[in-house]
Amino acid sequence: MSKLEFPKGFFWGAGTSSHQVEGGHHNEWTEWEKKNAERLAKEARDENWHDSWRGYGKKERNAAFAKEASNPDNYLSGTACDHWNRYEEDFDILEELHLNTYRFSIEWSKIEPEEGIFDQEAIDHYKKVITSLRHRGIEPFVTLWHFWLPVWIAESGGVLSPEFPDRFARYAERISKEFGDSVTFYVTINEPDIYSSLSFLLGFWPPERKSIFLHFRALGHLKLAHKKAYSAIKAVAPHAKIGITKQFMHFVTLSRSPWNLLLCRFADWWWNTSIVDALKGYQDFIGFNYYQKKIIGKDIRDPEGIEHTDIGWEYDPESIYDALVALKRYDMPIYITENGLADATDRLRGRFITETLTSVHRAISDGADVRGYIHWSLLDNFELDKGFWPRFGLVHVDYKTQQRTIRDSARLYAKIAASDSLEI
Ligand code: BGC
Repeated sequence: MSKLEFPKGFFWGAGTSSHQVEGGHHNEWTEWEKKNAERLAKEARDENWHDSWRGYGKKERNAAFAKEASNPDNYLSGTACDHWNRYEEDFDILEELHLNTYRFSIEWSKIEPEEGIFDQEAIDHYKKVITSLRHRGIEPFVTLWHFWLPVWIAESGGVLSPEFPDRFARYAERISKEFGDSVTFYVTINEPDIYSSLSFLLGFWPPERKSIFLHFRALGHLKLAHKKAYSAIKAVAPHAKIGITKQFMHFVTLSRSPWNLLLCRFADWWWNTSIVDALKGYQDFIGFNYYQKKIIGKDIRDPEGIEHTDIGWEYDPESIYDALVALKRYDMPIYITENGLADATDRLRGRFITETLTSVHRAISDGADVRGYIHWSLLDNFELDKGFWPRFGLVHVDYKTQQRTIRDSARLYAKIAASDSLEI
């Protein structure tokens, strides 16, 4: 047995996002859900569903979720986890788990339901949320925009509108004025490239407009929106630490042919570094979301002999090491702002957390400036266009009764967080 000690003051956390947990929303996604729930449920009844983007996996594995996935209600966020009303209960759980950090997003559609009209009650709600966290000694990591737009923005061009960056900066400025000293860490935009890829390049998410040109336009506007928001927040809250969260991937190739090696380098530049480079001077930290590596030159869906999570992603607690070490050259603090897995029965999560943190510890020992680990997610939640069936929570949620049950893996994580160390 050896003991791995984490640096003093390390952030141990869990994350959520507004639309995935709060409930009671009216935004671009709720409109899309209403129009598409029947279609998505019907797709799940197709015998080849497992092979589709939303099925994502092996037939046998998907069989366990087919019933839930073929029910239209699965695709309606509705009351979700009712976190809007139950946040105190959820923060009790954070405390019980010895977590000192909570990443959450605020809901733009609630705060600015109409152009330029800010809802003070909604803002005050989040102020109470932040006060409650602070009283408990928990650091709030506030995401301003996760993936969903107010309806008025969606209807006036969404992120493709040339006005989007200024609209976003105005919202960011207002929020940072309201939150003042109570918030240090802001994530302006969650995974801008995942958003533009899924909404435009692949066209799976609203507004489902598949086009490579729109993808680049969206991404350009999002980068500009971040920069403008960064400056706007700094002007009113100079103490703030601001960044985006970016989903990094470690690219590997099995064949090591010159062509595949070249592709790997290109993919690394295209996916990982080009966006960090583009935001140079406008990030105080790297918000690092990580789920799995990508294998170039091979269909990675279910290669034999590799374990998979419920949604077919590879069980991969090791490559996070390479992805973290590769960021050393930026010389910026790194916060792991998302990492986790869909695992309804909790058969993998405990081991995943231990093994991932072992890799993170190794990366820190080798010079990566990692300051915190925020597990995705605190609660089972509404997994976007896949709906409720994938369960990412440290805490199980019974969506009928809203009862929360802490999973064994969360207890294990709590021990690590309480002692700032890991026994392996
Ligand atoms: C997103 C989360 C999502 C998670 C798992 C991340 O890319 O930020 O909203 O739940 O992936 O799919």
